[in-house]
Amino acid sequence: MTLPMHQDAAAAAAAVLRRTRMILLLLLLMFSLSSFPSVTAECPEKCLCIEEIFFCHKKGLDRIPDRIPPAIKVLDLSYNEIMDIESLAHLTELETLNLSNNNISELKHGAFANLSKLQSLMLSNNNISELKHGGFANLSELQILYLDNNKIENIETGAFNNLTSLKVLHLDYNNIHKLDLEMFKGLRKLDKLFLDHNMIRHIPPGTIDSLTSLSLLWLDHNPLTCDCNILLFVNVLKKSYPQRDVLWDNDPSCHFPVEMKEKSLKEITKNDFNCTSPDVIVVPENKTVSVGEQLQLSCKVVGDPEPYITWAKDDIDLELGKRVQVFQNNTLIISKVEKTDGGKYKCVASNYLGRKSFEAMVNVNGLAKNGSKTMFRIIRLIIGFSCLFIILANYLIYNGISNIVKNVLLLLFL
Ligand SMILES: *[C@@H]1O[C@H](CO)[C@@H](O)[C@H](O)[C@H]1NC(C)=O
Ligand SMILES: *[C@@H]1O[C@H](CO)[C@@H](O)[C@H](O)[C@H]1NC(C)=O
Ligand SMILES: *[C@@H]1O[C@H](CO)[C@@H](O)[C@H](O)[C@H]1NC(C)=O
Ligand SMILES: *[C@@H]1O[C@H](CO)[C@@H](O)[C@H](O)[C@H]1NC(C)=O
Ligand SMILES: *[C@@H]1O[C@H](CO)[C@@H](O)[C@H](O)[C@H]1NC(C)=O
Ligand SMILES: *[C@@H]1O[C@H](CO)[C@@H](O)[C@H](O)[C@H]1NC(C)=O
Ligand SMILES: *[C@@H]1O[C@H](CO)[C@@H](O)[C@H](O)[C@H]1NC(C)=O
Ligand SMILES: *[C@@H]1O[C@H](CO)[C@@H](O)[C@H](O)[C@H]1NC(C)=O
Ligand SMILES: *[C@@H]1O[C@H](CO)[C@@H](O)[C@H](O)[C@H]1NC(C)=O
Repeated sequence: MTLPMHQDAAAAAAAVLRRTRMILLLLLLMFSLSSFPSVTAECPEKCLCIEEIFFCHKKGLDRIPDRIPPAIKVLDLSYNEIMDIESLAHLTELETLNLSNNNISELKHGAFANLSKLQSLMLSNNNISELKHGGFANLSELQILYLDNNKIENIETGAFNNLTSLKVLHLDYNNIHKLDLEMFKGLRKLDKLFLDHNMIRHIPPGTIDSLTSLSLLWLDHNPLTCDCNILLFVNVLKKSYPQRDVLWDNDPSCHFPVEMKEKSLKEITKNDFNCTSPDVIVVPENKTVSVGEQLQLSCKVVGDPEPYITWAKDDIDLELGKRVQVFQNNTLIISKVEKTDGGKYKCVASNYLGRKSFEAMVNVNGLAKNGSKTMFRIIRLIIGFSCLFIILANYLIYNGISNIVKNVLLLLFL
């Protein structure tokens, strides 16, 4: 290019030009070097990036690296010390996210809401203690979710809502105490559920009713209390999945009561329990109370599984609040009774074996609150007028009016 032209130039100028050229070349080199990092900055320092796959495994990261390009599909951030997962929202193409073995302790509502193409999410070995409602919102493509080896105690109702593609859910090695009926609702593709190594004592029948695709359920290493509820649960499992053994060879066993310890869940039968429908010990009594007093209605029932009690008044479920309360012992207490509290009360006891209800009539004596004010006013008026008449009568008597008039007045007003 320009090189031959320079070589043809005067010898005196040649040295100067050579130096200039050197400087230009250096500048060019420096420029291209400095521009290199801006091209590769998309692959975070320390990470290994192959096209759309980013490995940032065991790199001592305490946060998610900046400037990860939005087009990547696999991100492995396992074995780091990441606490916060806020800077993920732009990775809308992500299909696999591995965050296992980090220091994550909180998953906020909608934490992954922008990662709507995510299929696998690994959060094993973190410090998560609670699964909030909507924590996995928008993950409708998610198939595999690992949450094992955390400290999960509380799972809010709706935490797994809308995970309609989920096939595998790992909740093993946590501190889960309680399962509720709504917990796994809607996970109709769920095939494998891992709940082993937790603190589960009771399993309400119906917990897994909506898991129509379930083929394996791990429940071992939980302090299970074998009772009529668990019997029903096992019976439902056997009946719903006659061709496959959902409890498979992980073989969960009873922990309580002591006489059943180590007995396999698969072997319990109705002869091991006295499952009974609700029966009454104390019925609510008919009562008469006065306005402003306290009303107490007792309802004691037995049954196994322990019956569930509700109260109704005139066949409508009672609305509980500060004034109307139902205590642990199923006693209904209404403080400061009002006229409108009168009526037919019903205590309904039910378990899956049956349902019984007991009625009591409540009469409220005294005056309705609004009515009593007008009554008081009328009484006050009567007393006032009587006084006036007595004064008038006395005045007339002592001022010498005829005896007949006196008697008439006395008869009339006294
Ligand atoms: C989440 O995605 C929406 C659109 O899908 C986008 O507008 C928004 O900026 C994203 N949020 C972040 C933090 O990137
Ligand atoms: C996630 O990371 C852990 C630790 O590196 C690894 O054992 C596991 O295989 C990874 N899972 C996937 C699906 O990449
Ligand atoms: C785990 O979370 C708790 C708070 O929930 C915190 O006190 C503790 O330091 C965390 N542990 C680790 C190892 O990050
Ligand atoms: C992360 O947790 C490990 C233990 O699990 C702890 O040793 C480490 O200090 C924690 N790091 C941070 C940044 O909290
Ligand atoms: C869920 O994803 C869609 C795109 O698929 C997005 O428009 C929407 O904002 C997301 N929802 C939330 C709560 O971020
Ligand atoms: C589930 O999806 C429905 C409709 O698609 C939406 O209204 C609801 O908010 C979602 N729930 C959660 C917890 O994401
Ligand atoms: C069932 O009830 C009978 C009689 O009340 C009692 O003898 C038996 O021990 C009970 N069985 C169990 C498993 O509680
Ligand atoms: C309560 O009253 C109803 C009708 O007022 C009556 O049929 C019922 O026998 C009474 N119950 C008791 C326990 O006295
Ligand atoms: C039930 O509990 C309440 C509140 O603890 C108490 O006031 C009431 O006397 C109890 N009733 C019975 C029948 O034990």
